[in-house]
Order: sequence, then C-alpha cells, then structure tokens
Amino acid sequence: MIDTNEGGAADPAKSKRGRARERLQARMPKGGVVAEIGVWQGRFSERILAITKPAALHLIDPWLYQPEFGNTGFGKKKNEHAMGRCIATWSRASPPIRA
Ligand SMILES: C[S@@+](CC[C@H](N)C(=O)[O-])C[C@H]1O[C@@H](n2cnc3c(N)ncnc32)[C@H](O)[C@@H]1O
Repeated sequence: MIDTNEGGAADPAKSKRGRARERLQARMPKGGVVAEIGVWQGRFSERILAITKPAALHLIDPWLYQPEFGNTGFGKKKNEHAMGRCIATWSRASPPIRA
C-alpha cells in the first residue's frame, strides 16, 4: 500500500504536517520558478501548482527503488513497483529528461 496522503499533501487538513506545509506554501512568492526535488506521485506538486501558481515547475526524481533506504517509502520492498507506475504517469504528462 502506498502512502495515499503523501505526508499530508493529498489532504492537508487531515494532518499537522499537511497544515504546516500549506502555511509555508501560502507564504511563498507567486508566479516564480519552482523546483521540487523528490516528487513521488506528485500530490505535493499539485499543491505547489494550486497555491504558488508558478511560471515553471521543475520536478526532479530518479523514481528508483533504493533498498538501502529501507526506512523511506522509496526504499520499501512493498513500493518497489510503485516507481514504475510513477514514471509511467509522469512520462504521459511530460517526457522525462534523463541526466
Ligand atoms: C517522501 S517522497 C517526496 C514527496 C513530495 N516531495 C512531498 O513532499 O509530498 C521522496 C521522493 O524522493 C525521491 N528521491 C530519492 N532520492 C532522491 C534524490 N537523490 N534526488 C531526488 N529525489 C530523490 C524518491 O524517489 C521519492 O519519490
């Protein structure tokens, strides 16, 4: 099972962390150029778009299963195949630029 609330990004009102992130975003400049490093499924990216209305939003993520970081979502065995789904979703939205 993937974290469907993504650290409060899916429904910010549901968690203290989500509410803190909303307050932070409300203070960010509007219409700027934004980079989110570590995107996962993009729920927080959607909040960035809605709240800061950036001129450009750069989304950076290797979407790699990294078992050496077993205490994180992207290091958990149960999410091994979730990375492929993230890449497929984002590739439909915008072709990835590979480093
Ligand atoms: C906790 S999620 C971040 C979700 C989102 N930023 C949010 O706030 O809801 C962590 C993400 O970081 C990505 N990640 C791991 N190592 C990375 C690296 N070296 N550079 C960029 N992203 C990385 C993982 O693939 C995963 O999608």
